[in-house]
Amino acid sequence: MRRNIIAANWKMYFTINEAEAVANRMAEVVNNKTKVIVCPPFVFLDRLSKVFLKTSIKLGAQNMYFEEKGAFTGEISPTMIESVGCEYVIIGHSERRHIFGERDIDIRKKVVSAIEHNLKPILCVGETLTQRKDGKAKDVVERQIITALDGVDLNSVVVAYEPVWAIGTGVPADLDTVNEMHSFIRGLLEDVPILYGGSVKDKNAYELAQINDVDGFLVGSASLDADTFKKIIDEFERAKGVN
Ligand code: PGA
Repeated sequence: MRRNIIAANWKMYFTINEAEAVANRMAEVVNNKTKVIVCPPFVFLDRLSKVFLKTSIKLGAQNMYFEEKGAFTGEISPTMIESVGCEYVIIGHSERRHIFGERDIDIRKKVVSAIEHNLKPILCVGETLTQRKDGKAKDVVERQIITALDGVDLNSVVVAYEPVWAIGTGVPADLDTVNEMHSFIRGLLEDVPILYGGSVKDKNAYELAQINDVDGFLVGSASLDADTFKKIIDEFERAKGVN
């Protein structure tokens, strides 16, 4: 089902005390109609689930392994993250794909396993700068989507379009590109929420949110500060006319 979602990806930042302070502040200020999800590092999930318990903020993990249990040293299972209060899980983030070598086929296994375990996957897709320069952006994104989602029940799936060249740079993709890529993805996935990610800030959230097929954001560095994150949600709602 198509709906508005804004998710925070905290990546590998904070100590537990820092994380709890930011989460407490978010619990205090975030009171929006848009669905808000916070995805902290694994080791903070249990503690933060208590902070968010009486709020509308949902908890997500940043990754998971596809097996339920077993001899997989260092891995975290879908059952584990579900048991500490996660409803969502980011899968196939570009840092997982490019730094840790996750392939489309691994990502599909994770998506399927997440759904089997009643978790809602936030599937990240997006092309590199070289792929874009070679005119392959749409082919790449289509392949990522089809490999991960073909034949999958799309009801609980969220997709995030995150061009690799716009992540962590401070400069998001230009509005025409975002519009073009989101319309393209909409053609493949009619009813799935499509988030934009890559240098979303409080200053650019309004113009990005004005794009019809942008159903929300996946926010990295600007989600590490609760008040900035809150501004992004407010700007998104202002652009979408939510009040
Ligand atoms: P950024 O990260 O907002 O810091 O660019 C986005 C992401 O990687 O999800």
